[in-house]
Amino acid sequence: MSEEQQKIRIGLIGFGTVGQGVWKNILRRREELTMETGAELEIAGIAVRDLNRQRDVDVPEGIITDDPQRILDDPTISIICELAGGTSAALEWSRKALEAGKTVVTANKALLCDHGEELLEAAEAHGGRLFFEASVAGGIPVIKSLREGLVANRFNRIYGILNGTSNYILTRMEREKLSFEPVLAAARELGYVEADESLDLDGWDAAHKTVILAWLAHRMWVPSSEMLVEGIRRVTLDDMNFAQELGYRIKLIASIQRLGEAGRLALAVRPTLVPLDSLMADVSEAFNAVRLEGDVAGPTVLIGKGAGQDPTSSAVIADLVDAGRAHLSGVHPRSRSARTGDATELAALEDICQEYYIRLTVADRSGVLAEVAGAFSQCGISIATVIQRDHDEDGTASLVLATHLCSEASLQNALAIISAGESVLGEYLVCPILDPE
Ligand code: NAP
Ligand code: HSE
Repeated sequence: MSEEQQKIRIGLIGFGTVGQGVWKNILRRREELTMETGAELEIAGIAVRDLNRQRDVDVPEGIITDDPQRILDDPTISIICELAGGTSAALEWSRKALEAGKTVVTANKALLCDHGEELLEAAEAHGGRLFFEASVAGGIPVIKSLREGLVANRFNRIYGILNGTSNYILTRMEREKLSFEPVLAAARELGYVEADESLDLDGWDAAHKTVILAWLAHRMWVPSSEMLVEGIRRVTLDDMNFAQELGYRIKLIASIQRLGEAGRLALAVRPTLVPLDSLMADVSEAFNAVRLEGDVAGPTVLIGKGAGQDPTSSAVIADLVDAGRAHLSGVHPRSRSARTGDATELAALEDICQEYYIRLTVADRSGVLAEVAGAFSQCGISIATVIQRDHDEDGTASLVLATHLCSEASLQNALAIISAGESVLGEYLVCPILDPE
């Protein structure tokens, strides 16, 4: 092989937090990565939006452009690494690259969630491949684990913490009694937060990752609009204290459950009470955790850094090595695995059964508790615990209820009845209570 043939030329589209991490860490581990791949991973072109923006790493002159098409059109570039984010231009770039038979490596979970099926088809049709390890759980190799290490398994439940920003905010709010805004600002500084912050704060980023895991585990693309999704904005320090009083901590938990004989799938992302003595309760800051309940291997829990430059670039580089090896061998394993699906439809709200924590702000007057309890009883929900805290200053009180097992449908009916009355004021918070085993 000539010197030139021993290089795999890569084009990066996007050179922000993750892109610069990929550059820096490929340089740092150049020799080992060359040996592992069988050729040098050479970043031959980089596309950005603003050529004048200050970067933290120096790159050779001429390599950087503000025209992604230049990278896509370069016939010597065989791997396109999409690290720009968003779903419209990223879709165009990825589709064009795959249609030209190139391999695409991406960290873009929103893109995969919305267009994964189409992109995987394009890869298969044109002999390229799509890699996306960094799209779920940052540095944790959860996609490889599902695809390779746990290939013999089917999964009745997968759950975990999939959004680093939310976990970072919840951890620091609880630990340091801080309010939301300054902790969000710190998360931005650390490079955890998406350009569109509502993706992190309203649960959609974790929802996109959940859709990807559900596809890997069950071969079903679930539209995120069909999921129960709530982020962390309504969680207050009071909720954290109430949860602790009840023996729990609040985490943003993503879950995929296969329910009943028919294996209907229930996907959700919600602030959730996790027992203080459970593994999830100890996963702090920007760490993520995923528990994969395999029917052959039993439960496997993966914990690691879920966001930030180095962890994410570690996952991207793992994909680049795999892509480089496939390119050299000429053997392109299927992007869409041959595993058949074990679920065909989504669960109804009646199928989803769990315990719940509900925090209401109510008018502090007699009869309110009876009214709320009446609505629950009318919907067949049994209450396990009640806590009431008066707020002397404004004539309101916090009313916290923990239920026994009940269906999501019954709970929503009870909340609709309560909301139609005059006792409940403002927003309320509903959190499932996790059964960790
Ligand atoms: P970022 O810091 O905002 O960087 C985005 C990069 O894309 C910037 O270099 C930007 O150029 C470039 N870009 C945006 N639009 C472009 C366009 N139209 N043409 C050319 N370049 C364009 O984002 P990031 O945090 O690195 O995230 C990148 C991707 O990785 C996203 O899909 C994100 O969801 C995913 N991800 C991020 C993390 C994380 O912890 N940050 C973890 C996992 C996955 P300029 O620099 O000139 O503005
Ligand atoms: N914004 C994402 C998070 C980045 O906080 O988890 C990692 O996907």
